[in-house]
Amino acid sequence: MFSIDRLMRLSSIIPVLTVPDPARAQPLARELVARGCRVLEVTLRTPAALEVIAEMAKVEGAVVGAGTVLNPRDLEASLEAGAKFIVSPGLTEPLTRAALECGIAYLPGVANAGDIMRGLDFELDHFKFFPAMASGGIPALKALAAPFARCRFCPTGGVTEATAPDWLALEQVLCVGGSWVADGL
Ligand code: 3PG
Repeated sequence: MFSIDRLMRLSSIIPVLTVPDPARAQPLARELVARGCRVLEVTLRTPAALEVIAEMAKVEGAVVGAGTVLNPRDLEASLEAGAKFIVSPGLTEPLTRAALECGIAYLPGVANAGDIMRGLDFELDHFKFFPAMASGGIPALKALAAPFARCRFCPTGGVTEATAPDWLALEQVLCVGGSWVADGL
């Protein structure tokens, strides 16, 4: 089992994938792994998402997880599909308790100090900063990170190929996520 810290250090860019057709899953995962993206987040935003996770998980070198996980039911379904980690746009108590209980690598979304403090109450210190650009971009994350020095972040939402290096230059940013990574694939 991967810890969330190990997972976030595995590859610095995490493709956020919304794949409606399971037949596309394996070729897409192979292409992304060949480009150095081993960690693949498949959002639960299409009816095919769980099948896509199961198909991508068969690709050598790929570490596949579920995104847009909103509640314990989504978590359960993701685990059954073979997800190795889960990502959520926010941080709720029911999902956090369920994720901690089963021990899966868990990346909840935070956008402000209160969110981070609720995560710390659960001894979480790795977060998705979401939506990264709409929440104020790099200046906002720098300001937020200052009082929470031990926390590490994966900014997602409005990050682009051009801005990814600027985010990754921040000490507290271990990786970035984005849908742009799979554009045109
Ligand atoms: C996510 O769910 O993480 C975002 O929708 C990805 O945001 P992006 O499309 O701006 O990269």
